[in-house]
Amino acid sequence: MAIQLGDTAPDFEAQTTEGTIRFHEWLGSGWGIFFSHPKDFTPVCTTELGEVARLKPEFSKRNTKVIALSVDSVDDHHKWSKDIEETQGQLPNYPLIADPDRTIAQLYGMIHPKADNTLTVRSVFVIGPDKKVKLTLTYPASTGRNFDEILRVLDSLQLTANHSVATPVNWRDGDDVIVVPSLSDEQARAKFPKGFKAVKPYLRITPQPNK
Ligand code: BEZ
Repeated sequence: MAIQLGDTAPDFEAQTTEGTIRFHEWLGSGWGIFFSHPKDFTPVCTTELGEVARLKPEFSKRNTKVIALSVDSVDDHHKWSKDIEETQGQLPNYPLIADPDRTIAQLYGMIHPKADNTLTVRSVFVIGPDKKVKLTLTYPASTGRNFDEILRVLDSLQLTANHSVATPVNWRDGDDVIVVPSLSDEQARAKFPKGFKAVKPYLRITPQPNK
């Protein structure tokens, strides 16, 4: 059964480029992004891992740790990291999990046999401070991910976890948000002192509350 939103992210022990970790302990009390890439020494993955290193301060600002996995060894991860630094100008500054026997990849459903029998697809799991899965994404090997989108989604997840709002299409941090349908108008008036605009009874817009 695939991991679903709201499930507890499975815990595991892993060898990584930063030593042995227990996943839940490593996550600590903040947010986490766990992503797989199909293989070391491959072009799209090289660009992705460099970009995540470049964006690390943005993830840290959001109290979020990042960790990557591929089905190669720690030794290969270290060798490949040097190529990433040389070609992308960024040495991975977060752990790369080695999973040569694919135990963790199988645990997270990262191998989709109809796409590839042995390599992982490009999975992303966003995990909340309660260790529950908040978001999953699956991309094929041939398409690199947009990590700006993952930051955008993280902003939405963190906002909507703390306020009775949802974020509309193409929302970015600072844009107006939507009052959740479960709040009555009276409750919404009490919760949102800046007020809201009811475009329809079910479509109520309010300024982002934490700005
Ligand atoms: C890549 O990262 O470039 C890649 C990896 C596996 C299959 C295809 C592309």
